[in-house]
Amino acid sequence: MIEPSATIAMGTEARKLKARGVAVLDFALGEPDFDTPANIQEAAIRAMREGKTHYTPPAGIPELREAVAAVYTDHHGVKTDAAQVVVSNGAKHAIHNALMAVCGPGDEVVIPSPYWVSYSDLVKLTGATPVLVPTPESAGFKMTVEQFRAAVTPRTKLLMINSPSNPTGVVYERSELAALAEEVLKTDVGVLSDEIYEQLTYGDAKPTCFAGLHPDLPARTITVSGVSKTYAMTGWRIGWTVAPPAVSKFIGDLQSQETSNPCSVSQYAAIEAITGPQDSVKEMKAQFTRRRAYVLERIEKLPGVTCLPPGGAFYAFMNVASHFGRVLGGKQVDDSTSFCLTALSQANVALVMGSAFGAEGFARMSFATDLATLEKGFDALEKFLAS
Ligand SMILES: Cc1ncc(COP(=O)(O)O)c(C=O)c1O
Repeated sequence: MIEPSATIAMGTEARKLKARGVAVLDFALGEPDFDTPANIQEAAIRAMREGKTHYTPPAGIPELREAVAAVYTDHHGVKTDAAQVVVSNGAKHAIHNALMAVCGPGDEVVIPSPYWVSYSDLVKLTGATPVLVPTPESAGFKMTVEQFRAAVTPRTKLLMINSPSNPTGVVYERSELAALAEEVLKTDVGVLSDEIYEQLTYGDAKPTCFAGLHPDLPARTITVSGVSKTYAMTGWRIGWTVAPPAVSKFIGDLQSQETSNPCSVSQYAAIEAITGPQDSVKEMKAQFTRRRAYVLERIEKLPGVTCLPPGGAFYAFMNVASHFGRVLGGKQVDDSTSFCLTALSQANVALVMGSAFGAEGFARMSFATDLATLEKGFDALEKFLAS
């Protein structure tokens, strides 16, 4: 059975409370709080005024596909042709397309867990079986080569990698991904590398484009990314796949039957995002960096809560298991779901339960929120945990 997205469900609960006039401190949703930069908005307005409001080719306008291909060729060192790029309605749609292209009933897909909420359900949608590989906090939430080797069977079609990761913020070292890549190349397994947070890394953490790790990888890797997180464009719905030509052709054909093109105006906005000035990206990243430091400082002071510092994305994956078995805000808390629901009802703080990401014992806090709200949130959490 396909489950509704838990992050969206928590967001909906928080919105319901807000509608009743409750001042919810919302750290549940995974989207930047910034408005889309002005130059990108202007590009969209220009596109509308120029009448670019019609159907486009189903796989996206050639200029955008070329701009995306140039990013991979010039910045990631993976020679990419525009025909390998299909522009979709957000990265989530791109992942769905990629899975539909490669997987079917009887196939298995290896997913290191914790994983982004939608992976397992999107795999199930194709009839394939998600094979979750637990990566504990003590191992830095990273899958080892040995774990991958043990998870592979003759039915394994795909390995899904997400670095920087949602929900843990973990960024694999280049050498760690290279070791995984070497093992992948000994098998027939393909890779879906979700690199949507590639531009949001902190400190020494550096993103790695998986397909660029070995000359043989582009032929078996589907890279997913998009403009949602980097450019604060979640509502515009533009993501993409970069895939081997035959897979790309299939994805384009599938999309032509399922949704046709992604929004024409959004595509022109995305060209400006990718090829225009990047100052706003730097500014947003600087703000995320400040918020991350503040969040880590406050978590350090929360009783019984620990957190592996996130190397990327904008989430703190807090270990709250030491509070299970306690009564908080007058309610018994036994797992991550009761912890998050109680935090919402008793402290008006919206977090997402770790169980939604396949990791019991944790609560995810998004720090894509202004510092003043974060401060209020931690004050409320402190009181809640002391109750
Ligand atoms: C890891 C990961 N992949 C994909 C997506 C989907 O991005 P989009 O909004 O472009 O569909 C998200 C959004 O939360 C995400 O966290």
